[in-house]
Amino acid sequence: MAYPQTRLRRLRSHPILRAMVREARLNPDQLILPLFVRHGRHVREPIASLPGHHQFSVDRLVREAAEAARVGVRAVLLFGIPAKKDARASESYAPSGIVQQALRALKDRRLPLAVITDVCLCGYMSHGHCGMVRRQGQRVTIDNDASLDLLARTAVSHAKAGAELVAPSDMMDGRVGAIRQALDQAGFTHLPIMSYAAKYASSFYGPFREAAESAPRFGDRTGYQMDPANAHEALREVALDLEEGADIVMVKPALAYLDVIYRVKRRFGCPVAAYHVSGEHAMVKAAAAKGWLDETKASMEILLAMRRAGADLIITYGAKEAAKFLQP
Ligand code: PBG
Repeated sequence: MAYPQTRLRRLRSHPILRAMVREARLNPDQLILPLFVRHGRHVREPIASLPGHHQFSVDRLVREAAEAARVGVRAVLLFGIPAKKDARASESYAPSGIVQQALRALKDRRLPLAVITDVCLCGYMSHGHCGMVRRQGQRVTIDNDASLDLLARTAVSHAKAGAELVAPSDMMDGRVGAIRQALDQAGFTHLPIMSYAAKYASSFYGPFREAAESAPRFGDRTGYQMDPANAHEALREVALDLEEGADIVMVKPALAYLDVIYRVKRRFGCPVAAYHVSGEHAMVKAAAAKGWLDETKASMEILLAMRRAGADLIITYGAKEAAKFLQP
């Protein structure tokens, strides 16, 4: 039936009816807050390009996590800044590594939070790449298969320190399978994996690389991260990760890749996470600081768009603010 029998405006003006027919909803259970941890004590170093975010020492990180839990955030995603970087990313799988220390401290506090760890080598490598670098004469390549063992060791050491979900973000082929096998062998058959399945070589990671001190020293990541032009390829990445044992698959970035989120959810029906990355968050912050956008409204609209596209979980630097806003 067409107009005048049909008038779509009928359900729009009454606030209760409008809410009753709302299709996509956002709930604090779906939000994950990224946190950065470094060595030291009483450290709370602001990150200029991520206003409101800091590099914390373990003692301060625990406080920040407690505050996040208090306002309703249910999960945090940990990134570490090591004391020393080397050519084998040693601190990423050392029992005394910064993320391992943070995990133990967070576990001791028994906060009502799930603790997720980013599993990658870039922040721990002297060259800043996500895998082992091999030099063949003039050519420098990232050695995929030699990187898998280091990634698997990192995941197992996070598991031993108390991680409740591990999230490999390196984009090496076969890493989900390698991590699954290593976790199983170490007795962590129940520990789930959230893979950064479709991770693009994006310009929106800028502020993060400042925060994590993980920018590559030479070259870029186009040899392992995906081409922003490709959506079909994202489905192949997701299919492989699921076959290798991923429990949750992630699309990253999120805002410029809503079509990818939509396709992944539709095709696989599995739990999908969206990473609202640092540069996307910074754009809203910067525009709001100039008075060009209403920060809360714009942020909530963006998060809702990700839910509407099909994301079950959203990793966002605005998790605390969103959780506060959503409190009943
Ligand atoms: C590490 C990693 C990156 C992000 C998360 N894990 C950056 C990169 O690939 O350089 C980006 C997150 C963000 O921008 O918020 N591989």
